[in-house]
Amino acid sequence: MSLQEVQNAWIYLDRNTMIWRGPIQAAQGVFQPIHWVAQTRMQAELRLAPNEGRIADVGCGYGIVTVNLAWKKPRTEVIGIDPDDKRLEVGRQLLQEHRLKNCTFRTGTLEETGIEPGSCTGVICTELLDHLPEGKAKLQERIGKLMDLLQPGGRLLVSFLDPEGFEYMGVKPPSPLTMSDFDWLKEKVVERNCPRWWYMFYLDKR
Ligand SMILES: C[S@@+](CC[C@H](N)C(=O)[O-])C[C@H]1O[C@@H](n2cnc3c(N)ncnc32)[C@H](O)[C@@H]1O
Repeated sequence: MSLQEVQNAWIYLDRNTMIWRGPIQAAQGVFQPIHWVAQTRMQAELRLAPNEGRIADVGCGYGIVTVNLAWKKPRTEVIGIDPDDKRLEVGRQLLQEHRLKNCTFRTGTLEETGIEPGSCTGVICTELLDHLPEGKAKLQERIGKLMDLLQPGGRLLVSFLDPEGFEYMGVKPPSPLTMSDFDWLKEKVVERNCPRWWYMFYLDKR
């Protein structure tokens, strides 16, 4: 595989899309919209994530962001955290299939990540804050927890669904959020090249 091919290639959940069969029409097969969304979102995340050090992917699910991050950034140590062991198992299979050594998956939650505070150069939180109960009420507390994991100069990368973008498919996050819910975060940088299906911003720790 040439360098160019590696840059353009992505690890998909293709063999595992069976997981989504039924509930989400847009997720069937690697060329379906949900994969396209995941890929463009990951391209933005990769551009904005640090190239070195420990990166925690909190609420990593099946680990699709986690494994792509580890693959494209070999100088990082990526840790995926999720309470759902079945999902983590899919991530672990992907690690084996792609022989990735710089990535692990751990059972945990945003509240109890098991990661040493101040030890990460990057924290990624994708489609979690809008999937947890009391999304708006607990936003500040949860962002605080994620920021605690970062070392000074580290970067928190947050992404969540644009509820309007998904409306036509009948997909609604349990705690819909909009960018205005994060107005209190004065120093965040909003990713402006994102498609209509999700929002993204990053925040660097002083
Ligand atoms: C919509 S999925 C997002 C998965 C992944 N981040 C992505 O974007 O592909 C939300 C994930 O959050 C996990 N989750 C639920 N409660 C959590 C909590 N308290 N802390 C961390 N993750 C949680 C779920 O198990 C699920 O895998």
